[in-house]
Amino acid sequence: MSAVLTEPARAAGRVVWFTGLSGAGKSTLASALHAELLARGAAVELLDGDAVRENLSKGLGFSREDRDTNVRRIAFVAGLLARHGVTVLVSAISPYADTRRAVLRDLPGALEVFVDAPLDVVAGRDVKGLYARALAGEIPHFTGVSDPYEAPGQPGLHLRTDRISVQEGVRQLLTALGEG
Ligand code: PPS
Repeated sequence: MSAVLTEPARAAGRVVWFTGLSGAGKSTLASALHAELLARGAAVELLDGDAVRENLSKGLGFSREDRDTNVRRIAFVAGLLARHGVTVLVSAISPYADTRRAVLRDLPGALEVFVDAPLDVVAGRDVKGLYARALAGEIPHFTGVSDPYEAPGQPGLHLRTDRISVQEGVRQLLTALGEG
């Protein structure tokens, strides 16, 4: 990744990278953490999968190549913001372990958060109605159903959202960030 930047004016911010299946709770946890850090006066930005795909990654699909391009774009923007002291909360399925590893390696101090719930639980929640359609074969390459999700082997934080509340997840996140 090539940088085209001025020198940062302040200490680098951290990138918190939420990875997990659709419906696992990535956006919910990232927004709750965002609200808490904002309330504490932090410089914090949210790069959420859906918003990114509406803007920065408009036109990309869900092939491996497109997902990896999406993840690399998000990481690039996150890196720019973090260099200037912003804490960046990324929420993206980011299903491929080696791509995540590669981008996280370039983001100093990044925290990888595995937002985890069993497939039957997230499919049961089916907040967007996508699992029903994917299981009916109407959405090809749907993560966890007809496309891979490679779970992190050693995430910085592993949150089982079928076992803990959003409030408890935020508490663990703040502790992991040294802000508890
Ligand atoms: S990725 O793999 O990181 O590039 O995916 P991401 O940018 O996070 O986008 C995931 C959201 O897109 C919707 N969606 C799909 N997800 C997975 N597989 C397929 N085929 C698919 N098609 C659409 C889905 O709403 C995801 O949102 P989240 O927030 O994860 O539920």
